[in-house]
Amino acid sequence: MDRRGFLDTLLWTSLAGAALSALAPLPWYLVPPKGVMRGRRVRLGKASALADGGAFKGHTGVKPVIVVRDGLLRAFDATCTHAGCTVDWDAAARIFTCHCHGAQFDREGKPTKGPAKEPLARVDFLEEGGEIVVP
Ligand code: FES
Repeated sequence: MDRRGFLDTLLWTSLAGAALSALAPLPWYLVPPKGVMRGRRVRLGKASALADGGAFKGHTGVKPVIVVRDGLLRAFDATCTHAGCTVDWDAAARIFTCHCHGAQFDREGKPTKGPAKEPLARVDFLEEGGEIVVP
């Protein structure tokens, strides 16, 4: 192969590699993995299946979410604001607890026991056809 042929091959190989790299995420965009956002909305579960005092966890594909029915339906980012563990709902005490370092949050997500100092983030949701949907 002469010098010009080598450079042509190198150029076309580089362009083909760049084009393949740019198109590689396309299948995941067109067909998202199961349980991850379809379109822009994530269905977390049935609101009617949640008894008063109950909770369930879901995932938006970006963050864990905990949905609680405590009179009202509320949804929070289940990521503890101390160091990122996932919080649980204590139905008997009606508080969120983090088992990593013992933080507790009230039903509004406000910290009541350290080491966490910031509240749990609220997650906006809709009820559609009896399901809880994160837009
Ligand atoms: S990560 Fe939750 S208390 Fe530390």
